[in-house]
Amino acid sequence: MPEINFELTGKDGLARTAKFKTPHGIIETPTILPVINPNIPTLGINEMVSVGAQAFITNSYIIRRSENLREKAERNGVHSLIGFDGPIMTDSGTFQSHVYSDVEYTNLEIVEFQRKIGSDISTILDIFSEPDFSHEKAEYAVNETFARMSEIPHGVNDTILAGPIQGSVYNDLRKKSAELMSSSQAGYLPIGGVVPLLENYRYDALVDIIINSKLNASFSKPIHLFGGGHPMFLSMAVLLGVDIFDSASYVKYARDDRMLFSDGSKELSRISTLPRWSPLYGKFTVKEIKDMGVEDRKKALSLHNLAAIFNELQEIRERIFQQTLWQYVESKARSHPYLFRAYKRILEYSEILEKYEDLSKKSTFFYFDRYSDQTPYVKRLSKFTGDFSTPAKEPVILGDEHWHPGRPHDKGIKSAYEHSGRPFFIKWQNTLIPLELDETYPVEQIITAGGELPSGDIITPLNGLQLSESKIRDFDIDRVRVVADYQFGPGTGAKLFPDNTVVTRSRNTGRIRGIFLNSELLATLRAHDGFFTMTIAGARKLKDACPAPSHRIVVTDDSAEFNSKGFNVFFKFIRSNDESIIAGNEVLVVDSGDNLVAVGKSVLSGKEIKHFRSGVAVKVHKGVLQGEEKETESD
Ligand code: GUN
Repeated sequence: MPEINFELTGKDGLARTAKFKTPHGIIETPTILPVINPNIPTLGINEMVSVGAQAFITNSYIIRRSENLREKAERNGVHSLIGFDGPIMTDSGTFQSHVYSDVEYTNLEIVEFQRKIGSDISTILDIFSEPDFSHEKAEYAVNETFARMSEIPHGVNDTILAGPIQGSVYNDLRKKSAELMSSSQAGYLPIGGVVPLLENYRYDALVDIIINSKLNASFSKPIHLFGGGHPMFLSMAVLLGVDIFDSASYVKYARDDRMLFSDGSKELSRISTLPRWSPLYGKFTVKEIKDMGVEDRKKALSLHNLAAIFNELQEIRERIFQQTLWQYVESKARSHPYLFRAYKRILEYSEILEKYEDLSKKSTFFYFDRYSDQTPYVKRLSKFTGDFSTPAKEPVILGDEHWHPGRPHDKGIKSAYEHSGRPFFIKWQNTLIPLELDETYPVEQIITAGGELPSGDIITPLNGLQLSESKIRDFDIDRVRVVADYQFGPGTGAKLFPDNTVVTRSRNTGRIRGIFLNSELLATLRAHDGFFTMTIAGARKLKDACPAPSHRIVVTDDSAEFNSKGFNVFFKFIRSNDESIIAGNEVLVVDSGDNLVAVGKSVLSGKEIKHFRSGVAVKVHKGVLQGEEKETESD
């Protein structure tokens, strides 16, 4: 088995961009493998490569059944047969066996055949689990599929084994199958048994299947969705963690004179012009395409359809880079009622998905309507607010006239706050947020259509507020404490920042910048997202405030030596980690004796870290052996 090499290059929640190394080259994900039928190739390999194909999938069962193809493949390999020297995946005939019940080879035979013809990714003969199977029948498919993976001899070192996750529509079975397959020698995990759901646009059922498969599978192995190549659903599937798709839809739709677009398919007869991105644009008019012979038209439309799929994937990759995939899915969901139904199902999983979201995003948060209240970042905020509220004291609720996103609260508020003992909240969309978080992501980094539901909360008139003569608290100190509570857990702020903490402000923006204790810099508050970057002194205090394993990444002692000099932490040197680490948050890098060696930013969430062996896990800002911080209170 070749070492699985799936290196992340970007992430946005569960969605990721990665480089997946196969014996015949690297596949950049997310992507789709066009299905090639070796008996009836519709498009040339170069044409498909020209619209974005990097790798293909073909069927070893079809090759083996035809004497001519089999002989050629056995003699010169599948790459020569297809005429492509890059990555090729082969399927096993499961689908044919399921539909026609006529597969005459055993699992071992078909896997050995795929290896022999040089397939980069070979698929076992899994058992297809239909959506309408009984639980018992679906469980049999899961167990038998695992037994078939287990019977493959280990150490076959020139193909990556694909181990399909089955289990019909049963969440417990998808979980079981994902766990079993992840524990096996499979280096590649396709989600199977979903074609009937895709064909019937049952995207909501697919949401359950993908989430329950993905979250219980190894995060370091690529997840494939068998047959999921319609551009409409790609972005949702990627949002939920699918990396690779395959599809013959580009030909199937073309055969029916249908054209694919990012939001659905349209009959050729109902189209008047071609979009500029289409490879057919400028070459043919719609009328000329309509007038073509059947075969030429199928070819032309297939190319257009494949380009539509790759266009959508390019958009998705870019969205991951910009960290705006959720917004894209949110707006796309409105393009079709079936997608919207699926989106609503995704929102039911928001609290679970929240655990995979970064501390903050590069992008501004878009608030559209009440459905935005159910998105992961709003859930994260409202959970914090719920824990934060003290029923004993009546809150002061500030309305739009005192604060709105993008504008700091007015000066009178600070003074009112400091002369009152009551908790202050701002009305933020349909939620109440502690005033202290008004510059923290996504509270301020938002573009909003406005909250639309009356929450029943009464805005407190400030001029009627009873204020004490003397200042009873300091807003700046409270602000840094509450941000710390939000970033590191309730109660941390007071331990990190005692009463004699001093804050300094940026000369440019007037906002809090440095947080000092006894002239030592503990942290800086970032202008772009309102969270802290910790210094070594701050990290030591965080470590004292939060007992192990909180916020810790425990590294091998060899690695500790490097990290203490400021070098990044690699996954392979991690011994253990706090499972509740938030991706993008500050982490304490410690050795096996819980001694601090460095502080940095975790690339992944605590749940994902343990699955990875290659790449950078923590971007270290500072090691304990590096010099002291230069910034001073008077800077
Ligand atoms: N093609 C479409 N669905 C499936 C599946 O469940 N298993 C395999 N091996 N191939 C498929």
